[in-house]
Amino acid sequence: MADLLKKRIALITGASRGIGSAIAKGFAAEGAHVILVARTVGGLEEVDDEIQAAGGSASLVPMDLKDFPAIDRLGASIHERWGKLDILVANGSMLGQLTPIHQYDPILWDEVIAVNLTANQRLLRSKDPLLRKSNAGRVIFVSSGTAQTARPFWGAYAVSKAGLETMARSYAAENANSKLKINIVNPGATRTNIRAAAYPGEDPKTVKAPKTLVPLFLELASPACLRNGDLIKA
Ligand SMILES: NC(=O)c1ccc[n+]([C@@H]2O[C@H](COP(=O)([O-])OP(=O)(O)OC[C@H]3O[C@@H](n4cnc5c(N)ncnc54)[C@H](OP(=O)(O)O)[C@@H]3O)[C@@H](O)[C@H]2O)c1
Repeated sequence: MADLLKKRIALITGASRGIGSAIAKGFAAEGAHVILVARTVGGLEEVDDEIQAAGGSASLVPMDLKDFPAIDRLGASIHERWGKLDILVANGSMLGQLTPIHQYDPILWDEVIAVNLTANQRLLRSKDPLLRKSNAGRVIFVSSGTAQTARPFWGAYAVSKAGLETMARSYAAENANSKLKINIVNPGATRTNIRAAAYPGEDPKTVKAPKTLVPLFLELASPACLRNGDLIKA
């Protein structure tokens, strides 16, 4: 066990698999206590088993990111137990449909915007006061290349990520003179469920594994990080 994030409290959404799971394991291996959010209890437990086997510690929070009052309650629980939050990784996300904008299912559209965008504002609403209690609060938003390229057929996903990036940059600018450091990562093509759903014909072995992203997330989460408001393509 190394100690880059020793005793730091890190909340990671979308931690039941894929990139979030790799970040959780990477942070725990550096001494952080990780709070893992996702809906799939089995996935969270598998990540927890691996973290514990490596000597780390985690708290599991099975939760739907569309349940905004539950996001608020999580803020109250973190406050009660730790009185602060050092790191927030806003990673949880859904793909939705790949289809022309005008044909997008309206219910699914709202769901994608809720999970990928609104839930992250809701996270900030209840976690910002806790991040300010940290001596070096760090926030990392996970975006996508689709936010910048207006890629055809990516619909609500691309729109949600564009909104997320604008929200993250506004939040970073609002905190330019604070101890908080807020950055955005575009992970690029990574071997996960979202990638497989978007590119079903692709051989997964041709794209990088989630754990290759861990060093970048560690850099942005560490108390030594001085970057703020950056969009970093992995
Ligand atoms: N993989 C890529 O090539 C790629 C490229 C660009 C950007 N990204 C971004 O990377 C991030 C991680 O995605 P991934 O590639 O690792 O995909 P993934 O393996 O499908 O992971 C998505 C995570 O989000 C969680 N999630 C989805 N809907 C949720 C909900 N309603 N409530 C709570 N949790 C929810 C999932 O958990 P449950 O299903 O258990 O709830 C899962 O843990 C996302 O922000 C994605 O947009 C990925």
